[in-house]
Order: sequence, then structure tokens, then C-alpha cells
Amino acid sequence: MPQTQLETYITENEKRFLEDLKGWLRIPSISTLPEHAGDIRRAAEYAADQLRRTGFEHVEVIPTRRHPLVYGEWLKAPGKPTVLIYGHYDVQPVDPVDLWESPPFEPTIRGDNLYCRGACDDKGQTMLVFKALESLMAVNGALPVNVRVLIEGEEEAGGESIDHYVRTYPERLKCDAAFICDTGMPSKEIPALINGLRGIIYTEVEARGAKHDLHSGVYGGVAPNPLHALALIIAGLKDAGGHIHIPGLYDKIRQPTAGEKAFWQDDPLHINEALLEEMGVSQFTGEAEYPPMERIAARPTLEVHGITGGFTGEGAKTVIPAVGKAKISLRLPPDVRSAEAFTLLERRVKELVPVGVEVVVHNIHGGEGVLVPVDTPAIRAAAAALKETYGKDPIFLREGGSIPIAALFDEILHAPVVLMGFGLPDDNLHAPNEKYSLSQFFKGIRTVASFLQKLG
Ligand code: BES
Ligand code: MN
Ligand code: MN
Repeated sequence: MPQTQLETYITENEKRFLEDLKGWLRIPSISTLPEHAGDIRRAAEYAADQLRRTGFEHVEVIPTRRHPLVYGEWLKAPGKPTVLIYGHYDVQPVDPVDLWESPPFEPTIRGDNLYCRGACDDKGQTMLVFKALESLMAVNGALPVNVRVLIEGEEEAGGESIDHYVRTYPERLKCDAAFICDTGMPSKEIPALINGLRGIIYTEVEARGAKHDLHSGVYGGVAPNPLHALALIIAGLKDAGGHIHIPGLYDKIRQPTAGEKAFWQDDPLHINEALLEEMGVSQFTGEAEYPPMERIAARPTLEVHGITGGFTGEGAKTVIPAVGKAKISLRLPPDVRSAEAFTLLERRVKELVPVGVEVVVHNIHGGEGVLVPVDTPAIRAAAAALKETYGKDPIFLREGGSIPIAALFDEILHAPVVLMGFGLPDDNLHAPNEKYSLSQFFKGIRTVASFLQKLG
């Protein structure tokens, strides 16, 4: 079979595509840590530069109250649909840094994998979209559709700035479909389109007792202990069976379809096995009355991310701490609104506070879940492209992670959303040794190019 020009261009440029990704990855654009604001700025400029070199117009690094957005457009395909492409250039913190096998911001290839913070989430996935655009433009001198690109630098920190931008300037983002490349597939052999994501509410519960730390012998027995109070609160929020004890939280859950229920129950692709394998544990925790995949995809869940306070160094110190803090989040199926979930959580925490302790629940960030319709032209084009590159029809799946902008594109722009990404379950997102499969990166470029052609 003769290679198409597009295929030739991609093959000939694979090495440089990878170098362009590596250059971006070396910038430690951690959005949640204020000391990285300069790196965030550089990573934004890097993205803008990629767009300019591809031939995009009106490329701008847009300042916001926090981290900049990057915008660019190419709107010279009259009569063709307009696609809004989203990605994020910010990454999660890297601690615990001693568990990384190579430095977190030095892209390193081992086997088929490129290791680096952001290798997958989401610089790798965003870069592959840039390279699909570059390839189409280089070969045809034009794109098959109109394209607006909007990249944010605050996704991992709540994404307030893009939320504000989309609500304030919806007319600048007019489109017929939105494409988000920030999700995964169950394995290299099973292409997938994501039709649902969960929402999130992320909080810090701050407990205060005495006005300063106390000697635990001198005051133990009469003093409030904020860390113990947090333990009681956490235990009261979720039991060992995975049931969350927050009145009202389960009231608004939409019934999954019969097809979804059967898929989760029967697990024809043996995803449960892969989940256990990836976690390195022998059994699942959580609500035993629901299949594991349903718990991840469609049930509210509560997690404690960290507890601080008191003495945690080596050795011993007999102290009753004056303050303790716990980071606690809820994942929310679509229809359970994050603001409402926060109110319910806060009310329940207040009920659980023992005497002598003052508790404040800080709302750090929130975002809505989403269910996207799958019978749209854009989804059909994406499915056909995946079939072409992977040799089989994609499955439709809900994932448990959150991409708050997806719900907003749906709600504010009324754009059908395509969630097509090339991450794998063992990519170590948010963890040490994050990686991206090189074959997924290159297949992703071909798939996205084909997707845009089919849409045009
Ligand atoms: N790309 C992820 C979300 C994701 C991961 C979706 C895997 C589907 C599969 C995204 O960058 C992310 O991590 N989002 C945060 C939410 C945010 C509000 C902090 C998350 O899910 O924790
Ligand atoms: Mn992401
Ligand atoms: Mn992430």
C-alpha cells in the first residue's frame, strides 16, 4: 500500500516531534506551587510558540488572575465545522521525589516509555495534538476544519481562570465541537472514547484546639486534640464498607444504562484484573454491592489525601498539637453538583466535631462531572479514526477522573465534547515515574490527524 504524504511527513518528523515534547517537559510547570509561576509562564510561551510555528493566527498568552491561558486560531476553512481543542500545560507536584528513577523534569526514555512529570498528563497528549495539526498544515497548506486552541495552566489547581474566561467570552470560543485529549484507554489494544467523567470537590478541614501546643503528660486527659478530632471526623464520613455518611449525597445519582451495568458487571475486557495488578493489591475496597468499575465511574467516593499537624519527625515528642489539617475530596457522578456536595460535606463535618475543637472546612476547588452524548458527528469521526489506527472499533467508557472544563464546554458553549486520549492505566499520573508510551504518542498523532480529516 503506498504511503500517503501525511504518513510520510509524520514518519520523517517523529524524532523532532519527540524533541519538541521533551523541551516542554523540561519546564517544571507545577501550577499549585507559587514558586513555579515563572516556569508556568515559560511553558505557556512554549505552547504559543508551537502554535505560531504551525501557522496559527492571533496566538496569545492571555493573562488571568492566576496562570495564563494560551489561545490560537486557524479559521480559514469556510463551510467546515469549527473544533475547539483543549489541553493543559500545567502539571502536578513531584514529591516524593526520591521515588523517581530518573529526575522528574529530565525526560528519559526506557523501552517504549518516556518518563517525566507531564509526559502523559497533559503535555504529551497536548503535544500530540499540536503535531497532528502541524502535519496536516505542512502537507496540505491548510487544515481540514476550522480550529481554535485553548490551553490552560491551572487544570491541576482547580482551573478557576479558564472557567471565568469561558463564562465571560463564550462568543470567542464559538465552535461545533470540542476536543479534549486528556484521558486514557484500557490498554494499547483497546481504543476507547470517554463518555463520562466525575466531578470533584476538594477541601481542607482545619481543626484547632488549645491556643498553643501542650505537654501531653501535663494536659493529656483535659486538652482537646485536633488530630484525634480529625480521625473521628474522617471515620464518621466513610465506613469500612466504602459507604459515605453524608446525608443527601446519594439522592441525585442518575441511573446508569443497562448496557453500562452489564459491562461493569460482566467485565468482558478483564479490566478488574488489570486494576488489581496496577494497584499491587489482592482485593478491592469500597462498596461491595457495586462492581468495581461502577464504583470508579459512577459512584461518589471520598478520599483523604493528607493529614498534617503535631510531631512527625524521627524519634518521639510528647505533644498535644494545637492545630491539625486534613485534605479531603469527594468525587461526584454527574448530576451531583459540586457546590451542593460541599454544603452537605461541611454540614456533616460540623456534626462530627468533638467538644473542645473548632473546625473550618475550606473549599479549595470544585468542578462538575459530565456525560457526553455519543451520537454526534464528532464522536463518529473520532471512532472511525481510532478504528483506522488501532484496527478495531473503540469502546465507550466512563472514567473516574475529573476534567471540569468538559462540563463547561457542554453547558456554556453547547458544544458536543469528544474525550479521546491515549493514556494507559500504568502511566503513573500524579505519581512518581509518570510516563507516556511512545507508541501511543505517535499513534495519537496519526489518530488525531485522521479524526480532523474525517470531520472536515
Ligand atoms: N487528566 C486528568 C483527569 C483524568 C485522568 C481523566 C485520567 C480521565 C482519566 C486531569 O489532569 C486531572 O488530574 N484532573 C484532576 C481534577 C482537578 C480539578 C484537580 C483530577 O481528576 O484529580
Ligand atoms: Mn490532565
Ligand atoms: Mn492530572
